[in-house]
This record gives sequence, C-alpha cells and structure tokens, in this order.
Amino acid sequence: MTSLVQQPVPSRPVPDIVTELPGPRARAHIEIDETYVTPSLPRAYRIVPVRGDGVVVEDIDGNRFLDFAAGIAVNSTGHSHPDVVAAIAEQAATLLHCASSDYYVPVYAEVARELDRIAPISGPTRTFLANSGAEAVEAAMKLARYATGRQNLVAFLGAFHGRTYGAMSLTGSKAKYHAHYAPLVPGIYHVPYGNAGIDELEQRVFPRLAPAEEFAAIFVEPIQGEGGYVVPEPDFLPRLRRLCDKHGILLVDDEIQSGMGRTGRWWAIQHWGVEPDILLSAKGIASGLPLSAMVARSELMTWPAGAHGSTFGGNPVSCAAALATIKLIEREFMRNAEARGNQLLSGLRPLVRRHERIVRDVRGIGLMIGVEFDSSATANAVQEECFQRGLLVLTAGETVVRVSPALNLTEDEAATGLRIFSEAVAAIDARG
Ligand SMILES: Cc1ncc(COP(=O)(O)O)c(C=O)c1O
Repeated sequence: MTSLVQQPVPSRPVPDIVTELPGPRARAHIEIDETYVTPSLPRAYRIVPVRGDGVVVEDIDGNRFLDFAAGIAVNSTGHSHPDVVAAIAEQAATLLHCASSDYYVPVYAEVARELDRIAPISGPTRTFLANSGAEAVEAAMKLARYATGRQNLVAFLGAFHGRTYGAMSLTGSKAKYHAHYAPLVPGIYHVPYGNAGIDELEQRVFPRLAPAEEFAAIFVEPIQGEGGYVVPEPDFLPRLRRLCDKHGILLVDDEIQSGMGRTGRWWAIQHWGVEPDILLSAKGIASGLPLSAMVARSELMTWPAGAHGSTFGGNPVSCAAALATIKLIEREFMRNAEARGNQLLSGLRPLVRRHERIVRDVRGIGLMIGVEFDSSATANAVQEECFQRGLLVLTAGETVVRVSPALNLTEDEAATGLRIFSEAVAAIDARG
C-alpha cells in the first residue's frame, strides 16, 4: 500500500533552479510553440513542464519547482499520485472507451453513485458526465431551461463559468472574454456578486426588467475563482437560496474550482449550510484527467433519451481516475487541506501589515487562498518573482495572486512555499 501523502523525490531539493529562466531548452521549445500553437492561450510565464511528482514540477532544463498552482486547482491529489496512475493504467488496459452515451459503462454509474453520496444535496440525485467545466455549465443551462420551462438566467459580475458560448455568456469577469464574439446567448442578467446583487435582483431586475417567474436558474460560485478568490458575505448564499425558493428559480452551484475537498469540505457551499438544486464539478475531480459532472436533484432530470449526451463525456479512464481521487481525498487529503490552509493563511496574513504599501488583503478557506495587491502590475510582478525563485503561483482577477496547491501538500512544503512567497513579496516591495 502506498503512502497517501507523497514525498518529493529525496535526491534533489525543491525548488532547485539550475539554469537561468527560461533555460536554453525551454527557449528553443517556446519558439516551436509560438510557431504552431494558437496565440489565444493566456500563458502565465515561460515554463516548459515535462514531469510532475506530488507538488513538484520539473521543466525541460531540469529545473524543479514547488507547484502552488496545481494546474489551476486541477491536480487535487498532486502530480501523478500512484493510486490514481494505477487506476488509470488498469482501466486503460481493460476498456479505454465504449461510448458511455450509448452503453451502460459500469464506471460511469459508479462515479454518479459516488457523487450522489458526497453531493451537498440531501435528496436523490442523478448525474451527467462531460469532459470540461464549460460543458458541465452548458448541461446545467440546458437542463434548467428544460426542467423549468423558463428562459432567463442570472450570473454574477466577476464570475467565470467557461469559454463555450453559453458558459462564456454567463461569464462576467473580464470583457476580453466577450470581445468580438457577440451576439452572446440572450436572456442572461448579470448582477454584482454578494448581497448587493440580491438587492439588485429584488429592487431592479425583477420589478423593472423581467419578472422573477421567467427565470430558470441563478449560477453562482460559492467562492469566486477567476474573479479573484472572493469569499462572499456570510449571509449571501443563504439569502440567495431563499430568493430562489420564493420564486421557483433553480440554484446552480458552480464548484468547478472550489469543490472536491479544496476548502476542507467536499463543497465550498457546505461552509454556509446551503443546498443547491444543481451542482457542477470538474478540475480536481479526476486529478488531471478530463472529466466534469452536472449533478441534479433527480426530479429535475425530466429530459428524455437523446435530449443531451456526449461522445467522450464520462470516458472510463477519467471515471477510474475520479473514483481513485474521491477515495484519496476522503481518506486523508480533505482534512489535510484544512490544516495546510490554516498554516498558509496564518503565515500569509502578516504580509498585509509588513508590506502595507502593496498588499491589500489575504483571504480564503482551506487551500483556496487569494492575496490581493494594490495593482495588477504588482500581482504580475509577484507571480514572476515567485517563478524565478522556483514557486509556481497564478494570478486571478486583476490584482490577486492565488495559492491553490494540491490537497496533499505537506507541512514542510507549505513552509517552504510560504518562505519563498514572502521573500518574493518583500523583493517587489523593496523595488518601490
Ligand atoms: C468556476 C469555474 N467554472 C467553470 C470553469 C470552466 O472550466 P473549463 O476550463 O474546464 O471549461 C472554470 C475554469 O476555470 C471555473 O473556474
């Protein structure tokens, strides 16, 4: 039996930067990439990763980084956890693909049953599996309209729900995601995130723009991710639930970034004791294999055969990875996420006082932590300085750097990351 908490390969320290960054092989590779790959990908910095192990990423020049980004909160069990790799290998050797939309592939239903067990919905649920977060969002948009017979949807400013047409139309974080793509999907109303948004719905949208009875669903991230790791006011989600109940509107809980144990509970919404009607999961659900899920209360699943499906969605290998991931998170990593989150939060909070010129806020729950700076230039500079010192972090929103490592981060790794992050912030502050 392998140890649940992986140790980095002991022969070399982490981080261990052995070339300038980017190194010579990285520069040569980036030249090829910049010739053949779409320029639309928003690359954060010039790293060419080739190997991962736990929370360690090695680049093409042999530089070793401590990974506090986890592939945008995807590598929930670290890079290549042996239990996940073994589950993938066994499933790949047994049945690689067999059209889960057309046949009763067993692992598909096993994942659905597990999601029913851990979903924050007390009654029975049924699940649709897809490949990406955006596809789960699309499925929820379709089901919400189908099940309610209503058209309109609400989403929040600052929200990120994906890049396909429907999901992009719900997204309200940056105008560049919409630029040149109009017309977007109609019938979507954006309001401010938090209690101000509920006031806006009650006082302006419902009485003046469109009656509440014509709204199918409200899409919400219980903690905004790409919007800047924003934790809402304590009464926001309970108020939102009451608003939905009052008007027969479905509450869709987008836990694509905040779920799968990252905040120390399976789902972030559980910190507020609120139950959604539809739950969306992706990113960390299968430790890096493409899988997403839309879990809905069973009575909402009124759509008939053929109303929705996917060729690759819920493919057996991703499902096997998800089952192994759920086991690991439940056994140990979810508890660890809470402990390491507290360690990181208490280590990061003093930065606000120590560097009051540039650090505005430190916030988050578990291993979903945001450090807000005075400007996007500072946030980007801190991200780059961390990279140069061997720590991978990613910006979120305009002015925030997010800290979202794998849930099996050890105490020592957390301490190392904290030290490097603090030194990077001090270096940027000293530059004036
Ligand atoms: C909250 C949230 N919803 C949806 C998505 C879209 O997921 P994907 O990129 O897998 O389509 C993301 C991705 O960052 C997300 O953070």
